[in-house]
Amino acid sequence: MSKIIIAIDGYSSCGKSSTAKGVAKSLGYQYIDTGAMYRAVTLYFIQNHISLTNPKEVDSALDRIEIEFRANSEGKSDTYLNGLNVEEEIRKLYVADKVSDVAAIAAVRHAMVREQQRMGKKKGFVLDGRDIGTVVFPGAELKIFMTADPMVRAQRRQAELLDKGELVDLEEVLENIKKRDIIDTTRDESPLRQADDAHLLDTTFMTLDEQIEKVVLLADTKH
Ligand code: C5P
Repeated sequence: MSKIIIAIDGYSSCGKSSTAKGVAKSLGYQYIDTGAMYRAVTLYFIQNHISLTNPKEVDSALDRIEIEFRANSEGKSDTYLNGLNVEEEIRKLYVADKVSDVAAIAAVRHAMVREQQRMGKKKGFVLDGRDIGTVVFPGAELKIFMTADPMVRAQRRQAELLDKGELVDLEEVLENIKKRDIIDTTRDESPLRQADDAHLLDTTFMTLDEQIEKVVLLADTKH
């Protein structure tokens, strides 16, 4: 069976990454979490006090950033920033709070898109993000656009954070999700939008297994 590229885009906390991981596992594909890359850049910018409005500072910081994904002992993929495992840190709310501002910077997007195109050059990849089907791989054989009710998304994200030991107020999570939706959909540089040929998947009333099954079924029609 020939391998394809599967692009999963959509709003924050709709289950994109969990679905993408499940689909990749089921099809024997590799998964690329592009949100993790923007989060890693954001962490670097926070730690090094990079001014987002200073293009020279941003460019030179981007030159100093190397992001990799490495498999951990459980077979899951961890994000590394300049050789350090930052998987836990980049999921925290203080990073989520800044990431959409960083991801709206053209130079940041160009650097990340280039890197994602290089990583996914071969077929047999599932990528999740905001611009995969529209910018990174506009020729992807299967495109999914995920959405869900904001409150359901906030509840899911709150449960995920709690799972990792971060206790946060539901309202605070909901505010962060709404803020990121606005920034992601209204930015000048590759705003979040559904590609014309993407399948819309509303996950409000779907379980993770149902989401994975739906995407795998769609992929089967493309092989
Ligand atoms: O997917 P995740 O919620 O981890 O993404 C974090 C943020 O990174 C998003 O809110 C968005 O601002 C940005 N992002 C992006 N383009 C992508 C992936 C993520 O702009 N392809």
